[in-house]
Amino acid sequence: MNRSLKLGVNIDHVATLRQARGTLYPDPLEAAKVCAKAGAVSITAHLREDRRHIQDADIYRLSKACPLPLNLEMANAEEIIRIALDVKPAEICLVPEKRQELTTEGGLDVIKNFQALEETVSRLQDNGSVVSLFVEPDPKTLEACAKTGARVVELHTGSFCDATDPAKAEMLLKKLIGGAQCAHDLGLQVNAGHGINLANIAGILKMPHLDTLNIGHSIIARAVFHGLENAVREMIAAMSEYKA
Ligand code: PXP
Repeated sequence: MNRSLKLGVNIDHVATLRQARGTLYPDPLEAAKVCAKAGAVSITAHLREDRRHIQDADIYRLSKACPLPLNLEMANAEEIIRIALDVKPAEICLVPEKRQELTTEGGLDVIKNFQALEETVSRLQDNGSVVSLFVEPDPKTLEACAKTGARVVELHTGSFCDATDPAKAEMLLKKLIGGAQCAHDLGLQVNAGHGINLANIAGILKMPHLDTLNIGHSIIARAVFHGLENAVREMIAAMSEYKA
């Protein structure tokens, strides 16, 4: 079957820019509307325990007004689970979370945390959200994912995307390709994400059975330059009203 690959846009860093100044702008909901207009199929927002970018109010606003299905990225933490149960986003991606990390480092250890994850997956799926587990492309981990009852896995593409040594990148891509095949054989929907940009996407496209790619930082970073010219022109136009 030939299906097109879907893009989910992670809008966390729109909120990062807003939190840097404590302003009301830029607004993640406005960003979601632009992403919808441009052809994205879902919006991801990560409600971190430290609330460094996305805030609780963003999640409630997105859940009510986002024109696309919301994929709530979150840790397996009771405080956040309660919010997820209240909001009932279409999708939830469970990720590991460390306070000091710059971004999500590594996938979930599903084997070690099996019981806790199985319980959370069932609470969230019984509540109507489809749950995805963010994991490394390791066959034993993927088998454990299937056993939790989760319907989706998101394969962590970060190590491949960040690899600068071509031989290492090739080895990591082979693992991603094997992981995608393994997850598909286990009956799981295969998503992928982390670190994907225009320079490395050709490798990612070699992975079989992909449903959705979740991409954030590189899209928001490129938007600075693709939108900067307009932003400067708009400000100059507004300034042209000045009469000395
Ligand atoms: N998927 C998951 C599970 C993530 O944690 C992240 C980063 O928040 C992304 C996708 C998007 O990664 P990036 O911002 O590097 O595109």
